[in-house]
Amino acid sequence: MSPAWSWSVQDGLAVLRTPRLLLRAWRDADRAPFAAMNADPVVMAHLPAALDRTGSDALLDRFAAQHEERGYTCWAVEVTDPALLAAAPTGAFAGFTGLSVPGFVPPFAHHEPCVEVGWRLAAPWWGHGLATEAAAACLAYAGVVLRLPEVVSFTTPGNTRSIAVMRRLGMRPDGTFEHPRAAPGDWWRTHVLYRITPDRAAPARS
Ligand SMILES: CC(C)(COP(=O)(O)OP(=O)(O)OC[C@H]1O[C@@H](n2cnc3c(N)ncnc32)[C@H](O)[C@@H]1OP(=O)(O)O)[C@@H](O)C(=O)NCCC(=O)NCCS
Repeated sequence: MSPAWSWSVQDGLAVLRTPRLLLRAWRDADRAPFAAMNADPVVMAHLPAALDRTGSDALLDRFAAQHEERGYTCWAVEVTDPALLAAAPTGAFAGFTGLSVPGFVPPFAHHEPCVEVGWRLAAPWWGHGLATEAAAACLAYAGVVLRLPEVVSFTTPGNTRSIAVMRRLGMRPDGTFEHPRAAPGDWWRTHVLYRITPDRAAPARS
């Protein structure tokens, strides 16, 4: 997949643009809508647990620190498309999409660092192709700029919306693994794994 995308550096940090989205650095103003998304049982249905405000803030801080340290992160996703914004009751912040290094030793790593592409959008933003649009730009950035040999993605088998994003991105299934952080018997222990070699020639939009 070769999306329309571009990247630039703002205040020393990489930001990405797609036709309808800005993937930017995190701001304090994101904390409230981020916490609301992370507390929504619909959004968190396929994750081990919803997050309270403390957990949500800690995750935002981790994303911001990784942006500084590695030059990539799970970016804050902001909708820039006027037609979508006009219909949105909750502002431009839509969630996150991006690249991160798993916080556990991945039993499936082929490369070091093992980089994951992931996404989480507030429910009103589902069904518009935004996660796939954002993630495609992240994969292009991973190939063209970061020159990563591989990007992985994983989720629980019942997370059909997330698996559909992986497939739309052209990722290939590579079986299942037991999540090292899950205890035996935890409902979320088994994960499906997908891999992709990001396109190193995906042209950026002029
Ligand atoms: C996973 C998640 C990001 C997927 O969101 P999504 O909106 O379904 O995914 P996409 O951005 O690819 O959008 C695809 C849908 O938009 C529709 N669509 C509408 N307009 C579109 C457009 N202009 N372009 C592309 N697709 C469009 C597609 O037809 C598709 O609809 P469908 O679901 O009815 O088939 C979202 O469900 C989510 O945040 N879930 C909770 C968090 C989570 O589980 N994350 C993963 C944990 S590992």
